[in-house]
Amino acid sequence: MNKDSANMLDHFLSHLESVFSISLRDAQEIIRNFHQEMRYGLAGGKSSLKMIPSFVGRPKGAEKGKFLALDLGGTNIRVLAVELDGNGNAALAAVSKFAIPQDVMSGTDGKLFDFIADCIKLFFKENNIGTQQAYDLAFTFSFPVEQSSIASGKLIGWTKGFTAGGVEGEDVVALLSEALRRKGTGFIHVAALANDTVGTLVAKSYADPSCDMGVILGTGTNACYPEKIAHILKCPGLGASGEMIVNMEWGGFSQLKTNIYDHLLDRASLNPGKQLFEKMVSGMYLGEISRLVIVEMMERGLLFRGTSLSAFSKGYALTTEHLSMTAQGTDFFAAFGLRDVTTADRQTIQEICRIVSTRSAKLAGAAIAAVVAWMDEKIESDHTIAIDGSLFEKYPGFQGYMKDILNDLFGARSARIKLELAKDGSGIGAAIIGAVAAFARDGGGG
Ligand code: GLC
Repeated sequence: MNKDSANMLDHFLSHLESVFSISLRDAQEIIRNFHQEMRYGLAGGKSSLKMIPSFVGRPKGAEKGKFLALDLGGTNIRVLAVELDGNGNAALAAVSKFAIPQDVMSGTDGKLFDFIADCIKLFFKENNIGTQQAYDLAFTFSFPVEQSSIASGKLIGWTKGFTAGGVEGEDVVALLSEALRRKGTGFIHVAALANDTVGTLVAKSYADPSCDMGVILGTGTNACYPEKIAHILKCPGLGASGEMIVNMEWGGFSQLKTNIYDHLLDRASLNPGKQLFEKMVSGMYLGEISRLVIVEMMERGLLFRGTSLSAFSKGYALTTEHLSMTAQGTDFFAAFGLRDVTTADRQTIQEICRIVSTRSAKLAGAAIAAVVAWMDEKIESDHTIAIDGSLFEKYPGFQGYMKDILNDLFGARSARIKLELAKDGSGIGAAIIGAVAAFARDGGGG
């Protein structure tokens, strides 16, 4: 590379670094804006945070019984049998996983719930579970749902690439129950509906009472926390005392400093103008942001010179897994037909991945800081944050950047905030919620 090209490359990379940077001041502003949007959302005003009451509080650890759980939220459906012993322990008795075909995710024929019911039938078969008795099922549905009770709620709008017809605006528990009946599995009763964040918080706090936030950092991103019922002004009928977990739907947060790549991604997305925070943070989009940067750099002759753009021209061709490989020191070049990649290009790609993923981790960290500070302004207590999702679990360095921003914001007090992996908590959490619902339904008698 000659000197001029090297200068142009340096110049472009430092420009990139600055348009993706999150300074301490930016993080403080995010916290202020989060608090304002939380306040409006809880009061029922216009807000990019939906702040949805979940109709459950944190568990007591004494919930007991055997439940089925159904987890729908990404490219797979999971069906689980969960046993709760009443002493804070939950065991998985059986699990089956099914990939959701693209035509079911985006079909217009209303077949999504029939597909789900078929998966549940297969789960019974695969695990040799008898169908002679009645079962309670807890449904983790990881999309924005306006809940009206512990076991009912309407889908507000699809996120994360789902577009299946006939579901938006409908009660998803009713749709599931009808499909179960149609498929001859009416012996399954849908006892509870929960967002994955709520399931994650409930699962962790079943055994750890200092857990007061559930976060997902995976294909999508979102969080929930227990709110004082008296603060949920938009629902005066919930009562005067106690707490209820609120699903924030923080993927929709929109008071953010966006750049040209965010705009390009948003404009070409299935839900333009929506889920802006999710589009800057979650696993579904980080590869795409990086692809847009790569395409621009190739067009400017700053990357992979002499190679055709075509390998990178398809939307979402680059995934977060590809970025994760780069961060681990391997690469994705062969998958894109690139051979003999120069050292300079390799380093450039590493830089792009670092810049894009660092912003994501810092935004996630700042958002957690906002919620913790909302619950405990001076960070005087311990807070365990239950976090699930592949970005948090697997992306090299991600947790470190999250901790860095918490440390920048709160100094030594940030040690009171523990970020803990809560793997697959959402299904177990839903079962615990199912136990609460079944207990209430059976008159608290068992
Ligand atoms: C999306 C959904 C939200 C879910 C999150 C994580 O943001 O709207 O309900 O919790 O993804 O799966």
